[in-house]
Amino acid sequence: MTRSGITRRQLLVATGAATLLSQVPMGFALGRTPIKAPAFIEDLIGKMTLEEKAGQLTLFAAAMQNGAAAAANPVTATSAVTAQIAAAKAGQLTGVFNSSNVLYHERLQKAAMRSRLKIPMLFAADVIHGFTTVFPVPLGESASFEPDLAQRTARAAAMEASAVGIDWTFAPMVDIARDARWGRGVEGAGEDVLLGRRMAQARVRGFQGDKGLDDPEAVVACPKHFCAYGAAEGGLDYNTTDVSERVLRQTYFPPFQAGFDAGAMTTMASFNEISGIPATANKWLLDDVLRGEWDFSGVVVSDYTGDEELIAHGFARDGRDATRLAILAGVDMSMQSGLYLKHLPDLVKSGEVPMAVIDRSVRRVLQLKAQLGLFDDPFRRIKPQAPSRQRLPETLELAREAARKSVVLLKNDDDILPLRSSGQRIALIGPVAQDWDSTKGPWTLFNGDDSGSDLAQGMKSAMADASLLRVVAGSGYATALAGGIQAAVEAARASDVVVMAIGESRDDSGEAHSHTSITIPKVQLDLLDAVAATGKPVVVVLSNGRALALDTVVPKTKAILVAWFLGSSSGAGLADVLFGKTGPSGRLPVSFPREPGQVPYYYDHKITGRPDPKPEALTAFKTHYTTIPNSALFPFGHGLTYGRPEYGALDIGDGKLQAAGTLEVRATVHNRGDRAAEEVVQLYVHDRAASITRPIQELKDFRKVAIAAGGSAEVRFTLRREDLLFIGQDLKPTVEPGVFDLWVAPSAEVDGLHATFELPA
Ligand code: NOJ
Repeated sequence: MTRSGITRRQLLVATGAATLLSQVPMGFALGRTPIKAPAFIEDLIGKMTLEEKAGQLTLFAAAMQNGAAAAANPVTATSAVTAQIAAAKAGQLTGVFNSSNVLYHERLQKAAMRSRLKIPMLFAADVIHGFTTVFPVPLGESASFEPDLAQRTARAAAMEASAVGIDWTFAPMVDIARDARWGRGVEGAGEDVLLGRRMAQARVRGFQGDKGLDDPEAVVACPKHFCAYGAAEGGLDYNTTDVSERVLRQTYFPPFQAGFDAGAMTTMASFNEISGIPATANKWLLDDVLRGEWDFSGVVVSDYTGDEELIAHGFARDGRDATRLAILAGVDMSMQSGLYLKHLPDLVKSGEVPMAVIDRSVRRVLQLKAQLGLFDDPFRRIKPQAPSRQRLPETLELAREAARKSVVLLKNDDDILPLRSSGQRIALIGPVAQDWDSTKGPWTLFNGDDSGSDLAQGMKSAMADASLLRVVAGSGYATALAGGIQAAVEAARASDVVVMAIGESRDDSGEAHSHTSITIPKVQLDLLDAVAATGKPVVVVLSNGRALALDTVVPKTKAILVAWFLGSSSGAGLADVLFGKTGPSGRLPVSFPREPGQVPYYYDHKITGRPDPKPEALTAFKTHYTTIPNSALFPFGHGLTYGRPEYGALDIGDGKLQAAGTLEVRATVHNRGDRAAEEVVQLYVHDRAASITRPIQELKDFRKVAIAAGGSAEVRFTLRREDLLFIGQDLKPTVEPGVFDLWVAPSAEVDGLHATFELPA
């Protein structure tokens, strides 16, 4: 019999009730339910010393890291291996993170089993986009608009990670990111709330699996960073955010709620302050909202030294004060500062922190360990002798599928794509052409080997005669190469078509990698200019971890493919699309602005009292810059196919969404082209007048449909009252009767099919 307890949320998940609840857009349906831990946990708590309790609330980076893992965070005074093992044996360490060394996990767990109370250790890791198999960065994968794909890659990553003893991933990152300067947008699902919710839910389900958290291949998920980390002023990492409660509830909370409704049992407090109160000491956020309103019974971990950073914020006087503030606010576990271990016992003795508060956090941590099955078998994920589960052929095939589905075709003049795999001389030019390492993306701590495919390899294997491919770097990412431009121009002249693999390197995005400008570096633009001047048709394959302003690139190219950082099967997946083995089917999860100075730009902005005129015109005294309209160059949701989708008839019945009813929306999309298309049909809605001003439009649903050449597809959406919820003047979700615009469209800023409907009083 298992010693694990079950929470109300798990029960809901098991009975399917959570699925129903997750359909309520903002997850307000759950009430407050105190967790009741199994008796053995209460027993253990009764036996624990204060020091052991503080130890259960203390997490450190693994002393034995795999080299690269250390690079993910600032260096702190991490203890040596022997000291860490001693701490485990003394019951003063709840677990470690970012080691993929199964033998080290085994040593630590054995040490914990020799501790007084034999409480098992927990092993965590930043498994963000794959483990040893690298999947496309989350932003890229979100471009697939296929939550099911995100669920499958998260499952595969969990399978690899759990095989070396990892129980817990610090993922998914579900921060809505609307400022392309922010480097960490690459880790999330982009700017949109609905896409963010669906991806959050899918990734949580993928990591945790559907067999229960005690399944040896389940890793518990951690939607992060709670909250509004992506709202950093100026897109500057770690910076202040000042977000109204309405915007928090409307925009930043929903992906977290979706993750918790999907069963995520942990979350991470974010580094940033929100309107003057750091998240790590924010009682309203962590206690009132997260636990009170949403019934979250899992574990809140600080971010890396987040509690200690309360001092630098100017919110805590010293480490002791920071500890007190964080634990009282609801941060159960301290990551890396060691402050809880150092100060909690004394804070309890002095009466500044009630024992009940410590016990509550310890209970949550032990409950999580129980749910993960660690009390039943502390070695259930630590099987050094088991056959390898890393980089299995089917996982690499999944990486290839994910790579090709993440690619977005921005333009394709004269149908220059797909390329012909025989008889065409191709020049492949640019710093990304043979840089497999960069295509791995920013969060690949555990991919030790370099056996992935770069674009040059991918293209060569797809071509009938690989000697027709000339490969030239032409320049570095940010620095020129001697003779590079000349070599590139010669290669272009000797070819029929040029593929330019340019853009950002993996070091341009990720944590602490914010940029002041969101453009392709000048040396690469110079290279593009010189190559374009040869008159040869140019196809750009863009490497990027954020939306880029491509105003200077577009006129020089026939086609642009957005390739993000695609991971282990990058080259092969891209070649599949370039040569038309499969068509491109991705759509932008972030708006690509016209010019860098437009950021932050996002499609569901407000209209203002002086709207930007439609059709676009630079009329005086309107909401646009003096030189450009207030719209994107390539809007959210945009992406072309090799087919020719054409939006046909729209039917919304009587156009009334009755109080208890639904509005059925049916649209027909034809493919007038002579190649198959995978179209992402999108449903947008605008509320014409409400007690709170509403965005110009909001995505309410989407469907990806395959349409054969010359064929057509009928797409059906069901709009419900809940889809029209917004946060009202009283800060509660509300729906108001009125008239709404509705569009079924290929992207946010192309009208597609339009109708109006009514929500009667
Ligand atoms: C800091 C990052 O903000 C967080 O996302 C990550 O999980 C931790 N470091 C641990 O590496």
